[in-house]
Amino acid sequence: MRSGPGVMGSGYGRHSAAQHVGIGTALGMLDRAVAALPLPDDGRALRVADLGCASGGNALEPMARVVAGARGRAPGIAVAVTHTDIRGNDFNALVETLAAPDAYPAAPGVFAYAEARSFFSPLFPPGELHLAWSSIAVHWLSHVPQPIPDHVYCSGATGAVREALRERSAADWRDFLRHRAVELAPGGRLVVVGGAATDEGASGAEGLFGMVVEELRARIEDGQLSSDRFAAMTVPTWNRTSAEFLDPLRRGPASDWYRLEEEAFAVLPDPLHDRYGRDGDLDAYAREVTASFMAAFGPSLFPTTEAPGGADGPSGAADELVRDFRSGLTARIRAHPADARTNWRVQLLRAARTDTPSRR
Ligand SMILES: C[S@@+](CC[C@H](N)C(=O)[O-])C[C@H]1O[C@@H](n2cnc3c(N)ncnc32)[C@H](O)[C@@H]1O
Repeated sequence: MRSGPGVMGSGYGRHSAAQHVGIGTALGMLDRAVAALPLPDDGRALRVADLGCASGGNALEPMARVVAGARGRAPGIAVAVTHTDIRGNDFNALVETLAAPDAYPAAPGVFAYAEARSFFSPLFPPGELHLAWSSIAVHWLSHVPQPIPDHVYCSGATGAVREALRERSAADWRDFLRHRAVELAPGGRLVVVGGAATDEGASGAEGLFGMVVEELRARIEDGQLSSDRFAAMTVPTWNRTSAEFLDPLRRGPASDWYRLEEEAFAVLPDPLHDRYGRDGDLDAYAREVTASFMAAFGPSLFPTTEAPGGADGPSGAADELVRDFRSGLTARIRAHPADARTNWRVQLLRAARTDTPSRR
């Protein structure tokens, strides 16, 4: 498996309960999209994309519902789903997920494929897609325009660095919408649930990321992490406000290509903190928050190199840094469990591809 900025760690499938909750909020919109889209009536398959799939576990339920919804309208219709992600993603884990006997591709006439290319680039031939779904993925940026020097997370960015992230995010979102507009057939639907922020820029994870930064500073004091490397550490995400998500669909070029049908802004419960509230198991809570953090953001903060003695120097030192960071973060969460509580904001949207002559 390759690793690097933006990809999920190998534990993502087991440690993505918060993302799972986010997807749950969008399933109704997905059902309504399937109910509304024009289905092929000439024997061709319904073509679906799952954009930013990671190891696929959180795609199983949405894609099973797409199959059920489409077959409720057109019994036996063939369904072809392409799961896409960037090249560093663990596609072997995706293949294993999709091969499970109870996974949606086990149904006759249902086909699953994988594509290793960024969703900020073209992914499908023009007009081929009927439905594009993306969950908890479009807030990952194509690249970091400038590292955040004294923090690692977008809500800690200020001044020109903050503006550069905001601009990168706007350009990426325009690219995403433009490419999907080319690929969706007229009447095709786009359903997105994406990491979002309030108008003040709060994503809901500020407390946890504050602890992360404190722990990284402790690693600097211990001589395990250089100040220069800390200054370059940046999670490549920007959680858009509702306006940043929706304005391009309401005005500007994308409003010619799409009709915004539904949208909602949601504050998600924190399933890990809620479980801790029920069972009082502080050790398990602290361990699971750290594991979930590392699964989602570890590869971005601690990218590994396959060459021995690469950017991290001898791999033993890199392992030690990650090990001590993990145990230090776990101790901080244990000491201040309420501060680690994370109520992610998400933006949900459903849009229809309009039938316009201009496809660009
Ligand atoms: C938090 S995971 C979400 C995975 C899954 N959709 C879910 O709901 O659990 C974000 C995924 O987006 C992927 N991703 C980030 N940037 C991407 C890009 N430019 N193109 C495609 N996938 C991307 C990451 O590699 C990761 O697998």
